[in-house]
Amino acid sequence: MSPTWSPASWRAKPIQQQPTYPDAAHLQRVEQILGELPPLVFAGEARELRRQFAEVTQGRAFLLQGGDCAESFAEFSANKIRDTFKVLLQMAIVMTFAASCPVVKVGRMAGQFAKPRSAGEETIAGVTLPAYRGDIVNGIDFDEKSRVPDPERLLQAYHQSTASLNLLRAFAQGGFADLHQVHQWNLDFIANSPMAEKYHQMGARIDQALKFMRACGMDNMPQLRETSFFTAHEALLLNYEQAFVREDSLSGDWYDCSAHMLWIGDRTRQLDGAHVEFLRGVCNPIGVKVGPSMDSDELIRLIDILNPKNDPGRLNLIVRMGADGVEAGLPRLIRAVQAEGRQVLWSSDPMHGNTMKASSGYKTRPFERILAEVRQFFDVHRAEGSYPGGIHIEMTGQNVTECTGGSRAITEDGLGDRYHTHCDPRLNADQSLELTFMIAETLKQLRPS
Ligand code: PEP
Ligand code: CO
Repeated sequence: MSPTWSPASWRAKPIQQQPTYPDAAHLQRVEQILGELPPLVFAGEARELRRQFAEVTQGRAFLLQGGDCAESFAEFSANKIRDTFKVLLQMAIVMTFAASCPVVKVGRMAGQFAKPRSAGEETIAGVTLPAYRGDIVNGIDFDEKSRVPDPERLLQAYHQSTASLNLLRAFAQGGFADLHQVHQWNLDFIANSPMAEKYHQMGARIDQALKFMRACGMDNMPQLRETSFFTAHEALLLNYEQAFVREDSLSGDWYDCSAHMLWIGDRTRQLDGAHVEFLRGVCNPIGVKVGPSMDSDELIRLIDILNPKNDPGRLNLIVRMGADGVEAGLPRLIRAVQAEGRQVLWSSDPMHGNTMKASSGYKTRPFERILAEVRQFFDVHRAEGSYPGGIHIEMTGQNVTECTGGSRAITEDGLGDRYHTHCDPRLNADQSLELTFMIAETLKQLRPS
């Protein structure tokens, strides 16, 4: 590991999962334009998220990360952003209220466009084309023209991200997230579900608490009227990410200002690879996906590279081992981290290790396996005396049928009804709430009463 880092030092390292652009000069022109555009976030916000991550690492808060597997250019609308934001607010308030636990909210939103793929090419009926790598790279349609990587898409992704973030900031701070609106966050299509009923009951108790506070003259705090919300995406397409690296004028540190938090995917976390090199030099809070192939020595070396100062707010290990893998794979990693005295935020991604093909041909995730992975994540941490700090899920506020199961049981045959994802299957609002109530119950037992 060379001691010198620069925003471009990743370019000398082996790199995985990148598109091959036919016109390198065009790409370079776009990188230059991006580098001169205003950043999406500012360093002080990333520092604030680090402070909040440190609270989570030390067991005083919980981290909720959620949003689309892949945002898309076609499915871009204010209502979609609003509805995903509503579900995240509901999830956060359930956890905060039921478990008396502050919740740090991070959306897989406003920049989550680039996707790693299991194969670089796709073959259908004898025709082979480059794989779809997310709307920031190429088009999803299976024809030659769509699949050519086009640098202009980087600009479109940037503009869509700025518009999304602008709306999210307005929702978070402009009155929409006011706790007095807690019943309005429910989505119409789940109005009659058991989860909505449970949610309204809790909302009624919150109303009562707010009335009590008003009577005591404590109704004017900004915490009741607005919330903080952060954005994150996988830092996969490094040409894009490099364009947003800016030197913070206050501290002289480097930040990747395309989002508050960035993470490294399970397929691109090689110790000597370009993605680790790039993220080690920016001061944002960062995540790393930890799949079943991670061994404990490798994990400690990775932590040494990414968090050499052992800062509790820096590193989020996002465990995604599958419902069958957590009990076998996680304890040795937790023990190694404890033995070496490393401070990390552990979170659970119960989505990416539980993907399967339904008999109807759809890619899906059984909801009971998602619940099972989260339960095991909590159980293993409890057994090891470690803090389970968060979850990382793929979800949407749209009424989709992409994951089977849940209280309004989606069957394999029903998947085709509203299967809209551009990449992996997501939880719908009902399923997200059901998972949340389970987590809130478990968190409550962990917290001092
Ligand atoms: C993702 O989060 O969408 C993803 C591809 O995850 P992983 O790197 O864990 O496979
Ligand atoms: Co995904």
